Amino acid sequence: MCGIVGYVGDKKAAPILYDGLKKLEYRGYDSSGIAVNDGFKIDIVKKKGKLDQLEGSLKKNTNGGTVGIGHTRWATHGKPSDLNSHPHCDCSKDFVVVHNGIIENFQKIKKRLKESGHNFKSETDTEVIAHLIEDNYDNNLLKALKATVNELDGSYSLTILSKYEPDKIFVVRKDSPLIIGVGEKENYIASDIPAFLSKTKDFYILEDNELAVVSSGKIEIYNDSLDLIKKELYHVDWDPEMAEKQGYEHYMLKEINEQPDAVRRLMSKRVTPGGINLDELNLDSEFLKNLKQIHIVACGTAYHSGLIGKYLMEELLNIHIEVDVASEYRYRNVLIKEDDLVIVVSQSGETSDTLASLRMAKKHGAKILAFTNSRGSSIAREADHVLLLKAGLEISVASTKAYLNMVVAFYIFSLYLAEKQNKIETKRLNKLSNDLIRLPDLLEQVIKDSESLMKERAKQYVKKQNAFFIGRHTDYTLALEGALKLKEISYIHAEAYPAGELKHGTLALIEKGVPVVALGTRKFIFEKTLSNITEIKARGGDVTAIVYKGAEGIEKVVDHVIYIPQIDDLFGGVLAAIPLQLLAYNTAYLKGCDIDQPRNLAKSVTVE
Ligand code: F6R
Repeated sequence: MCGIVGYVGDKKAAPILYDGLKKLEYRGYDSSGIAVNDGFKIDIVKKKGKLDQLEGSLKKNTNGGTVGIGHTRWATHGKPSDLNSHPHCDCSKDFVVVHNGIIENFQKIKKRLKESGHNFKSETDTEVIAHLIEDNYDNNLLKALKATVNELDGSYSLTILSKYEPDKIFVVRKDSPLIIGVGEKENYIASDIPAFLSKTKDFYILEDNELAVVSSGKIEIYNDSLDLIKKELYHVDWDPEMAEKQGYEHYMLKEINEQPDAVRRLMSKRVTPGGINLDELNLDSEFLKNLKQIHIVACGTAYHSGLIGKYLMEELLNIHIEVDVASEYRYRNVLIKEDDLVIVVSQSGETSDTLASLRMAKKHGAKILAFTNSRGSSIAREADHVLLLKAGLEISVASTKAYLNMVVAFYIFSLYLAEKQNKIETKRLNKLSNDLIRLPDLLEQVIKDSESLMKERAKQYVKKQNAFFIGRHTDYTLALEGALKLKEISYIHAEAYPAGELKHGTLALIEKGVPVVALGTRKFIFEKTLSNITEIKARGGDVTAIVYKGAEGIEKVVDHVIYIPQIDDLFGGVLAAIPLQLLAYNTAYLKGCDIDQPRNLAKSVTVE
């Protein structure tokens, strides 16, 4: 949430910062700004709106300095406007700050600073930081920064320029990610690795309460007590190409099409015809054998993958599984025992509520297993065990390939656990492993099969204001995901219901032409869903069914059908995710929505 960049080197900073921000625009895109220091003065340019709004004035209004910082914003305090955009500065423009996170006690600090004569220009929480540094500065910026953050409650990653040390950038973080990229006679700062992936693959990942002073030839990192510390370099093997659209009109479409390969990567060496191997997780066999309760905690789409996980593990293991939205879990009085396993699921590995839930569960002594797509993330570093999703860089705000890999990760983990707990026969495990191996090819087929029908369906959906998604069992969790995808990128109101629940109220909304997507991928419960579909048809609903091949009687009942290929009943849901994603994509496309950067949202939600 919000993107930060910094550059210090021997080249003009402004264009490098702008390019870095472009790569981070998915983190926030309601306004942006850049500050450049040429040793004499600090120029600040900032603009409401998407990043392109900044480009023109950047050339005219920034000096040729080789030290600078930048920010792309997702507004929390104060509406998107030129004034509220970052960077912010103190009264005399000696200290210039960009910030990710939220300062919870900013009102109190602002009042005090105003009373002592400070002059504020914006409505943001961030501006107090610049003024506090001004107050705390006594010829040592590192100490002033430390004194400043000591007064702050909340979360922050901060990047600071100063008139007094023009060849340096000062940074600090707490509960908001910040990395330092290492170059030749130049160094980079960013809130996320993709910002400078084309420049370097070596990064320092700052931990909470660490500070750093970065110049072109030197990176000094300090701990909380301001002792200089040595940190390990983190090398990434990502290809900068991953951050490009590669001929697709949108990242989302590219990422939908990348799903077969993403699943192949996830399963490689983990799923073989002989079974599942997740020994890389280093989970103690005795612990797994005796496991009686699992908590799954996540937000949004990741939460929906956790719901599938619950149904699966209940089906395969017959143990108690809790699933919770992280923003609720962290404040509930949940009974967490030392012999419980808590699975936190997060694409970014930085989602604030998920991270807080992890920390809360850890305090109770539970073991934490993270399913994450981001190896160096806070969640990956703080969890006891990590299952890397290997979906590759996901840039579109609406998650597709990471979601699918989360779902497949739950399948793999459930089967692994079922074997450890002796709850599955070898023959069945081998059959399911073989079906998993077929999954990427079948995903390719489903993408092909559903593309044109979903384009057609989108022509109808684009005219609607409401839509419903229904299903039973794991299909209900898919319905939730289908509704979320449609809402977030096409702005059409969509609701998901367990198919059997409609008649308890919502059926009142079904009338002629109301669009309903009905999922029926599970044979064992299909007839029940079919009855619910019939109830909708009797009231004039326009039903698109996504069902397993051979679903008896469906064509006579519904308006449109997509068949998913033959696979074990357990896996139907994985395949059905594709048409749901394509329906949302094509509807948003026809509506002319900003698909990769939907309004009001941002990727990587690092505030509560
Ligand atoms: C929706 C979407 C969000 C995220 C949620 C959690 O398409 O992407 O709902 O799933 O914000 O994000 P992560 O997985 O990064 O914790």
